[in-house]
Amino acid sequence: MAERVLVAVAWPYVNGRPHLGHIAGNTLPADIFARYHRLVGDDVLMVSGSDMHGTPTMLAARQEGVSPRELAERYHDVFVETNKRMGFSYDLYTHTDTENHHEVTQCVFTKLLENGYLVEGVQSMPFCLVEQRFLSDRFVEGVCPHCSFDGARGDQCDNCGNTVDPADLGNIRCKEDGSTPEFRDTTHFFLRLSAFQDRLTEWISEKDDWRPNVRNFSMGMLREGLKDRAITRDIDWGVAVPVDGFDDKRIYVWFEAVIGYLSASIEWAKNSGKPDAWKAWWQEDDARAFYFQGKDNIPFHTIIWPAMLMGHGGLNLAEDVPANEFLTLEGRPLSTSSGWAVWLPDYLERYDADPLRYYLTSIMPETSDSDFTWDGFLQANNNELVATFGNLAHRVLTLTTRNFDDAVPEPGELGPDENAALEACDTALKEAGEHLAGRRFREGLRSFMALAQHGNRYIDTRAPWKQVKEDRDGAATTLWTALNIIETLRTISYPYLPHSSQTLHELLGHEGDVLESGWQRHTPEVGTALPTPTPMFQKLDDSIVEEEADRLAAASAR
Ligand code: MF3
Ligand code: ZN
Repeated sequence: MAERVLVAVAWPYVNGRPHLGHIAGNTLPADIFARYHRLVGDDVLMVSGSDMHGTPTMLAARQEGVSPRELAERYHDVFVETNKRMGFSYDLYTHTDTENHHEVTQCVFTKLLENGYLVEGVQSMPFCLVEQRFLSDRFVEGVCPHCSFDGARGDQCDNCGNTVDPADLGNIRCKEDGSTPEFRDTTHFFLRLSAFQDRLTEWISEKDDWRPNVRNFSMGMLREGLKDRAITRDIDWGVAVPVDGFDDKRIYVWFEAVIGYLSASIEWAKNSGKPDAWKAWWQEDDARAFYFQGKDNIPFHTIIWPAMLMGHGGLNLAEDVPANEFLTLEGRPLSTSSGWAVWLPDYLERYDADPLRYYLTSIMPETSDSDFTWDGFLQANNNELVATFGNLAHRVLTLTTRNFDDAVPEPGELGPDENAALEACDTALKEAGEHLAGRRFREGLRSFMALAQHGNRYIDTRAPWKQVKEDRDGAATTLWTALNIIETLRTISYPYLPHSSQTLHELLGHEGDVLESGWQRHTPEVGTALPTPTPMFQKLDDSIVEEEADRLAAASAR
């Protein structure tokens, strides 16, 4: 039975270009998951978009001397282009400054207000005497009340991930001019998070299959006790507050960005000509929702958004919130501002998408932080993609086309090794499928590589290049068996390496999209015409490691 699966991907701030952190954290695992479910035959809706509003964009725009809209639109276009080139298969990648998003946000706000979960209140907020304005969120910095990190922002601490109130920051100062702000009263709307304390605790306690970091972090927040949080701000860039007297305030960026999952689903439905189609993913009991993101986003997805959904009523909660830990680069945290990053548009000028998808998956920070190194990238490409997967496919296809008239040969009787090879295909499909469904993408990739290794061992023992001279029928059996393995590798690689999977599909003599062939073992059909094989991957020269190190050094010295 086809299931409906909502793949909800965190919305990146568009205050800079996309880099490795964005994709290792959420886009790549989400895309792998979405592609797997589509291949299985499920009805997938994969949505996200650019998070355009709030102080992250305002701050970057001030630094570049342009308007927030201009800055956000410029980087949004870069994200759209990069998504395409990386093969990220969004059903819709939109942004938060659409008319639709503004409307849906105000609608959710109003509903929560009517249901009594939003209340007006007075809050003491930092006010900059130099600039004569309130300083929201990222416009202030100070010492974190939870972990004492000096550099926590007005809404969240990057060091420990906790949400914070500016009033609790030690040594608070204005991010832009360093002055000490004065606290002044201002009126805002508050989300009554405290009203959801019990319901959220009950909901999360049942989620015993969540990743431990996600569950523990969320349970920790609940144990500390949820506090009501202001969800409007004294800024002019964002979604307007749909209440009289709030003209000069905007809705808090996090409150509206999470609504993006819903608004994007609605936008997708409108675009597809069936305006109610989104309901199948949001209102049907058996639809399942998965929210992919980095660990700094956990509180917003396991506490705030679920509370909003509960307060709204009639909309599905998450089945899982598979948050990744962080990726470091050559041993140091990625940092856009200090130039310590690999930007995807640059990467894509020099290399293909699939080797990066492969390497990042093989080190994906699923349960602990992990480190990207250019040497690791090189080894993964040369030893695994080229020498193991690519080489197997190329050897088998070349031997087959050369010796058997460019077509799949007819096998003779299968021996124990042949049967073991076919069994290995079934095992790999089963294991990889379980890992993919269970959001263990690294493990799934291991099942894939294990099958490629099995294939290489099988071919090495049989040596069909010799066999073909002495026992032509035996060689036919060997190559036919090996083609079974390659068919299966084509299938399992589809979520991970969509471009290579499609290439292989065509090299195996198939037309159309891999997607049409489903998640199952295919027996190669005797006589299928095979095109002239071309290598799927390119060996990279060792020199790239040094080149990339120099490039990083130059960018971070600037
Ligand atoms: N813009 C946020 C970030 O980059 C993520 C927002 S995710 C959403 O950290 F849930 F709000 F959509
Ligand atoms: Zn902290």
